Amino acid sequence: MSGLSAAGNRTAAAVARRLYDGFVTYHDAFRTITTQAQARFERRDWSGAQIDASTRIALYKQCADDAGHRAEAELGGRGDPDTWKMAKAVYSATVRDRADADIAETFYNSVARRVQETVGSDPATTFVETEAPARIPDLSALYTTLPETRLDGGAMERVLALFSWNVPFADRAGDAQRAAAIVAPDLEERCSGAPLDGIDVLRSPFYRNKGVYVVARIRSGRRVVPLILALAHGPSGIVVDAALPTTDEASVVFGFSWSYFQVDTLDPAGVVEFLASLMPQKRVDELYTAIGYNRHGKTVLYRSLMRHLAENPDARFTIAEGDPGTVMTVFALSSFNVVFKVIKDRFDFPKTTTRKAVMEKYHFVFVRDRVGRLADAQKFEYLEFPVACFDPKVLELLLQTCAGTVRVAGDRVVLQHVYTERRVTPLNLFLRHAAPAAAHDAVLDYGQAIKDLAGAGIFTGDMLLKNFGVTRHGRVICYDYDELALLTDCRFRALPALVHEEDELAAEPPYYVGESDVFPDEFRVFLVPPGALRDDFLAAHGDLLDVSYWRDMQTRVLTGEMLDVFPYRRRRRLRPAEGTSGRVLVP
Ligand SMILES: Nc1ncnc2c1ncn2[C@@H]1O[C@H](COP(=O)(O)OP(=O)(O)O)[C@@H](O)[C@H]1O
Ligand SMILES: [Mg+2]
Repeated sequence: MSGLSAAGNRTAAAVARRLYDGFVTYHDAFRTITTQAQARFERRDWSGAQIDASTRIALYKQCADDAGHRAEAELGGRGDPDTWKMAKAVYSATVRDRADADIAETFYNSVARRVQETVGSDPATTFVETEAPARIPDLSALYTTLPETRLDGGAMERVLALFSWNVPFADRAGDAQRAAAIVAPDLEERCSGAPLDGIDVLRSPFYRNKGVYVVARIRSGRRVVPLILALAHGPSGIVVDAALPTTDEASVVFGFSWSYFQVDTLDPAGVVEFLASLMPQKRVDELYTAIGYNRHGKTVLYRSLMRHLAENPDARFTIAEGDPGTVMTVFALSSFNVVFKVIKDRFDFPKTTTRKAVMEKYHFVFVRDRVGRLADAQKFEYLEFPVACFDPKVLELLLQTCAGTVRVAGDRVVLQHVYTERRVTPLNLFLRHAAPAAAHDAVLDYGQAIKDLAGAGIFTGDMLLKNFGVTRHGRVICYDYDELALLTDCRFRALPALVHEEDELAAEPPYYVGESDVFPDEFRVFLVPPGALRDDFLAAHGDLLDVSYWRDMQTRVLTGEMLDVFPYRRRRRLRPAEGTSGRVLVP
């Protein structure tokens, strides 16, 4: 029994109600936007789809803030622990039977933490662990099972026939045959020719930018093979653009550097579980984030981290490998693939930016299309870890460089503001150790990353190797955002012809350089170190040094052309030679 008076109980119940109403408002609005994706795709309304994506990201904070204000009004302030304990119990009983109880608990945590100003985590007043009963998922609502014993054109067509769009396929039967032909050899190899037991096809397709993905798994004995069909809306109707039958390929489609999918479901945990069965090595928090539940992704990440630290008492946070940041102090655990980035109190020369501006840049990346080239960064506030988990050198560095946001309270380190990102191998380190062929591929992909971002209207600013990293699939992505700018805000200029050797030695250039001036000629020297790699880079991406390349990209962005990048390789496309309205991964 709670020690609250009758009035106290009433307040707690009212607070729980406010939070629950806030959650329902949030999740309904989230799903309303999500379901719009189909019509956007059918109308080829790509800019509308991008606006939806950003709007949906912004929803959570709006609804959580609103619920927080309402809760404060009920409480007449921040409330006391007993009231919150009771509110949590009422809320828990209300949401426990919902399929989205996990998301609902996270919403409660967000609001309750903000109103109470919780530091660290408090199991009495927030859901540090889930309290929802183990789910009995409604599998038939989640996916359809086709009793196929082989994957031929007929089976593929039955997969496609599960979906209906208000736009016809250009050639569904032909595409089904072509897709089967792409997938068959891989499947044969993976299942050693054994018959299939069936194909489970997720009922909701996954929309993102100009594409939509049908996600399925093929079962054969104990084997589970992913089957992802990438669809596009071409001039003559819907086409299957690519068929992807491997875990690695699925993993790239669901990678952490793309924007979130729009996939309508009442049961996010069920979708995530299904995806995890296709990509067992991917962190579950990243899967939640990939379908737009990034806040719950944070909850899951936090829980996995705490479990990891408890199970690995020797694990220590150390300084992240690579060149130290000028704006960020970055630390990581060698046994967990996340980095933690804390904004420094003061920035090293020559940075002139401010904390606020840095935060705005990270927010800009958060809400924008990341085209597979910008790592997802999640912001945590008042994160707490045991002091014992820190290598003393890191702790000293954090206290020295980030005194405004990091403090030690007893045996805990409190991080007031920190970003988490997937850990990748910094490109400068990668090139130091990579075999020549891998280094060649990485340098070419680095140039392509700069170009993909330019196509999406983003100028990376600090285009140095140390600000890019290589993922485990060999993709190059950028992770340093403090100098990102809109391409259309930059002024691309040619170096004045009068620059002489002696001028190069001068501290100041002998011509005026404005704040947003960019001189592409200068990229030659600093993008890639001299030698064979630079030659390879310039042979493939020499156009990056031309002012005309950048001005042309600016024009294309200004005319509203949206270049999409598709997360698969050309050899998986049904019509490899045909142009798409975007770019696929090479080769
Ligand atoms: N996602 C990441 N994965 C691996 N290392 C990273 C990551 N983000 C940052 N780092 C490391 O931390 C350093 C500083 O981070 P960065 O984002 O470049 O900050 P700054 O703006 O201060 O340069 C990088 O040079 C790199 O070595
Ligand atoms: Mg950097």
